[in-house]
Amino acid sequence: MLRRALLAASASTRIRDFLTTTPVANGVVARYVAGETADDALAAARQLAEAGNLVSLDYLGEETTSPDQAAAVTQEYVVLLRRLASAGLAADGRCEVSVKPTAVGLGLPEHGEKTAAENISLICSAARDAGTTVTLDMEDHSQVDATLRLVSGLRGEFGDLGCVIQANLRRSPGDCRALTAAGSRVRLCKGAYRTPESIAYVSRADVDRSYARCLAILLRGVGYPMLATHDPRLIELAGSQAALAGRGPGSFEYQMLYGIRPAEQQRLVAAGARIRVYVPYGTDWYGYLVRRLAERPANLALFLRSLTSRR
Ligand code: FDA
Repeated sequence: MLRRALLAASASTRIRDFLTTTPVANGVVARYVAGETADDALAAARQLAEAGNLVSLDYLGEETTSPDQAAAVTQEYVVLLRRLASAGLAADGRCEVSVKPTAVGLGLPEHGEKTAAENISLICSAARDAGTTVTLDMEDHSQVDATLRLVSGLRGEFGDLGCVIQANLRRSPGDCRALTAAGSRVRLCKGAYRTPESIAYVSRADVDRSYARCLAILLRGVGYPMLATHDPRLIELAGSQAALAGRGPGSFEYQMLYGIRPAEQQRLVAAGARIRVYVPYGTDWYGYLVRRLAERPANLALFLRSLTSRR
């Protein structure tokens, strides 16, 4: 209930304006966000890479409202990828980027899908030049079909373009089956957005069961599964299902978010697994932070305390 209320609150512009213009909660934001600039992102990426992790950098922002803004986000990624390459961090996909389709134009009222496809194509070209890859995040349920269309349209030219499946959607086992081709990079997550019960599982148990079903489909396929979860039971299940499917540690990866269960991230590195840390940066951290608070309402108390203690 609290989770749904928080996700609903995230849409309130009054709450958003209050939180993002008050010097608040630096500690809580810093736990989940690497910093505001590309320099901060590169420093975090270097530190994680030196500790044996793979990295995916996300320039925070979503629901872009103009073509110019979408072009600016695209340019940020292109420059970031060049900088990753010259820092020696991009080769062999060690540090890649994650892109929200609505940040590069998908939600624009006119020609949104075409604008997003052109911008993602520019980012994919820059990633290819840098020796790395791009993964398209999955957003609100209303964008799923358009995002999957973008992926299938662009994979002709950029076969390593990754996509995300949200296990909470009832349709997802079918989408996983359609995405198990050779080389197909698919990130599986539980799903962080508020979604109507008619199309999504709501209870944790049902979402977890769906995740287990999707995970088995992806691991038995011939693509490259990217298992994004911090859930200890699902991480264990992934390990055992991978072994059953005859997959070696190089044929799939675990993924976790910056600042969440870092000790587990290091345990997986030490065990020889591939683990990628998703590192967001930028000033537009509000929507991302609310989704992280909604996942773990205990964090909300910490956040509210920081609001009152810093003023
Ligand atoms: P669950 O929420 O059940 O958490 C399991 C355990 O992890 C908790 O008990 C706790 O210990 C820890 N934990 C989880 N969240 C925490 C938090 N916020 N703070 C502290 N501890 C926490 N979603 C989406 O809709 N589209 C997308 O594109 C992506 N992309 C993505 C990339 C990567 C790399 C990850 C890891 C996740 C996403 N997600 C996402 C988010 C995902 O859908 C989901 O909301 C979160 O990963 C939380 O779900 P868990 O699988 O971790 O399980």
